[in-house]
Amino acid sequence: MEHIDLKSISTDKSYIGKTVTVCGWVRTSRDSKNVAFVELNDGSQLEHVQIVFEKSEFADATLAPMLALGAAISVTGAVEKGMKDESAEIRAQSATLLGGCDQSYPLQKKRHTMEFLRTIPHLRVRTNTFNAMFRVRSELSYAIHKFFHDNGYYYVHSPIITGSDCEGAGEVFKVTTVGYDPTVKSDDEYNAKDFFGRSAGLTVSGQLEGEVMATALGKIYTFGPTFRAENSNTPRHAAEFWQIEPEVAFCDIDDIIVIATDMIKSIIAHLLKNCAAELKFFDERFENGLIAKLQHVVDSEFARVDYTDAIEILKKSGKTFVYPVEWGLDLQTEHERYLTDEYFKKPVFVVNYPRAIKSFYMKQNPDGKTVAATDLLVPGVGEIIGCSEREADYDKLLAEIKARGMKLADYANYLDLRKFGTVPHSGFGLGLERMLMYATGMSNIRDTIEFPRTKDDLK
Ligand code: 4AD
Ligand code: MG
Repeated sequence: MEHIDLKSISTDKSYIGKTVTVCGWVRTSRDSKNVAFVELNDGSQLEHVQIVFEKSEFADATLAPMLALGAAISVTGAVEKGMKDESAEIRAQSATLLGGCDQSYPLQKKRHTMEFLRTIPHLRVRTNTFNAMFRVRSELSYAIHKFFHDNGYYYVHSPIITGSDCEGAGEVFKVTTVGYDPTVKSDDEYNAKDFFGRSAGLTVSGQLEGEVMATALGKIYTFGPTFRAENSNTPRHAAEFWQIEPEVAFCDIDDIIVIATDMIKSIIAHLLKNCAAELKFFDERFENGLIAKLQHVVDSEFARVDYTDAIEILKKSGKTFVYPVEWGLDLQTEHERYLTDEYFKKPVFVVNYPRAIKSFYMKQNPDGKTVAATDLLVPGVGEIIGCSEREADYDKLLAEIKARGMKLADYANYLDLRKFGTVPHSGFGLGLERMLMYATGMSNIRDTIEFPRTKDDLK
């Protein structure tokens, strides 16, 4: 269908005076004696474009369904400068109803709750909030690819189906084609009958394969869906989420922290430039001061604190936390939020976590107690990046895999990387939805992904 995006008409003043055809969905309409107005949106921008219908030129029966909320229409008319402001409007010469919409359309004119909108994932994208969110999500994805591409990284594709559990947290969704069979006596027997002749699951992270690629291509990143059967029903956990995982050879923990910082600043700067209208909308509706916050992130240094010092800060905070604060225990959301929201008031890298609470692959520090790992915590959200230098020493890694009771056979190839030309290397994982929460002020992860999958919820 030949037509022009509404965004082009709004941004390119040379359309004024020309006759164009546009398409879109009716967001609101007003009907007065001689004229009817439709606010039309086609998804190309946040702003609606006003269509003016002279009622003398359209039969009532033709016009009425084109004023219905949610109707899809196509309009041909002259572009004019609006009466109120400079924004372009279109004076309709002819119009076609592409798809009518009746009163049962759930998005009638009122402010709906986010909870209600989650019950209609197939329609919520037609609201300003979700229309804006998914444009920002698209632009953010592009900014991430652009950052890595511009810096000489290769985009690699890690498998969705894997035989190993990268994070070792037992949160793998099983992939199977074998149903319940009471005659099977053991896991091994069951797995042997299965599609791959062994146990398989959905990947929790592309890191292990990313390391394979980085130890030949040098600098790579993955960008794909990852899955975790976490039982936690929180506003920041999804069972299916997208992760960006760069992996860099000849790179230590300090180097990777610089890379992560540059990436975060670069993608936020990109959003500030390219999603100005959407961020203004989120600033007004969801987080007052959002744009100033994001600008501050671009302009200022991130904080860095040792895990051990962070524990001291938390102990001295005078706060009563639900979860205990003790060296050796993991930081809970409430602790992370205190450190970022109240203490540092900006993004902070917490570095050198206790070895026992982190993954098997992290480089062991000389103290024997901690690993060269860091989480990037941001105000309002908490952890958005998990990062580490990888253990490059064959013997240490082997001992760690054994000590954790992991199945050696599943990690044989991974260990080979330490046998054949091992190098210091590091990487991190950025959760796309967590980043979106931070960039838009959205407080629930379910509202940053098109079709959220969370515990007990799949629509
Ligand atoms: O800290 P995580 O578990 O790290 C890894 O998976 C490493 N293999 C990454 C690497 O070094 N290549 O997860 C990384 C990030 C978290 O910081 C968080 O942003 C996001 O992934 N994430 C989740 N996002 C939404 N829902 C969940 N259930 C998430 N679990 C992790
Ligand atoms: Mg983590």
